[in-house]
Amino acid sequence: MRAMPIPSDHPLLLRIVDDLAERGWSQQNLFLPDALTRALAAECRQRAAEGELAPAAVGRGPFSEIREGIRGDRIQWIEPGQAQACDHYLGLMDSLREAMNRGLFLGLEDFESHFALYPPGAFYLKHVDRFRDDDRRMVSAVLYLNDAWSAEQGGQLRMYLDEGVAHDVTPVGGCLVVFLSGEIPHEVLPATRDRLSLTGWFRRRGNELF
Ligand code: OGA
Ligand code: MN
Repeated sequence: MRAMPIPSDHPLLLRIVDDLAERGWSQQNLFLPDALTRALAAECRQRAAEGELAPAAVGRGPFSEIREGIRGDRIQWIEPGQAQACDHYLGLMDSLREAMNRGLFLGLEDFESHFALYPPGAFYLKHVDRFRDDDRRMVSAVLYLNDAWSAEQGGQLRMYLDEGVAHDVTPVGGCLVVFLSGEIPHEVLPATRDRLSLTGWFRRRGNELF
């Protein structure tokens, strides 16, 4: 598929920026064209079949560990130049990064992203996406890659917005959810089938100690 750049003042991106400014999160059900969603899903499945997805760890650096009682997904980080579909997605996220920098003055410098596959029954308990020793992650973006998902199959992303107010997102292919990493606790509910996504974080320059 030919990579089609999207300008950073595209209405879809401006809507996401407005949502973030107003309430800290945005859900765009029709973010990706079907062909690109399918190509990304195929890439994720191929990597899984080749054994390239590994159990995700909890925490960071020397203290990270695999704990399926907290999160049970298998992941692989993506890099530019590996696959056309991934490069296309990274290009879109770069336009979104520019749009957020322009509209929200976040000073986002890069974007890191991984495929994630939750096998049936796997989940990720309630958490926030910012590590105590690394505050570079500013904005989280989750893109779902699942064909014909129905709510009874589970796998919702549950976001805790305010005291007693939760919002569930069904992980339907092509849907993008964006939220402020340090502000919105969330969890992934177990599903009855494989649940595929591309999850990423926009980061600013950090004040790392090491
Ligand atoms: C994560 C996460 C949400 C989702 O990977 O940190 O919360 O819906 N993912 O996959
Ligand atoms: Mn998360």
